[in-house]
Amino acid sequence: MGGENPYIKPADAPMATQKFKITFLPENVTLEVDPADLPYGRDGLPGCLLDLAEEAGVAIDHACGGVCACSTCHVYVREGLESCNSSTDDEEDMLDEARGIEITSRLACQCVPNGSKNLVVEIPSWNRNLVKEGHGD
Ligand code: FES
Repeated sequence: MGGENPYIKPADAPMATQKFKITFLPENVTLEVDPADLPYGRDGLPGCLLDLAEEAGVAIDHACGGVCACSTCHVYVREGLESCNSSTDDEEDMLDEARGIEITSRLACQCVPNGSKNLVVEIPSWNRNLVKEGHGD
């Protein structure tokens, strides 16, 4: 799923222009990002945290397909937030609906790092996609 939401203005979010690392918690999976490979072209804005997580094999729920129309991709940017684009009013509106909101909360599909810092991103337990191979009761 994916595409664009015609009611939501795309965020002004330039992609990274230098190499950086992003670590996802609690999995502790680190992806080395080379701007030459961006965007990976999965879900959300080009080069966003959700796109990077999917490239790293880390599952984050993203019910709306990355178009800023839900809050299931809510994450905490524990380090490197200052290297990311600012959140839009639309993102803030969606985050208002999210559970466990903190000052470092972002929507993974709308948050795009510029590469000037390494990042540490924590996925809240309730937003981890549990539909994985081998999972089941
Ligand atoms: S996936 Fe819906 S807002 Fe990010």
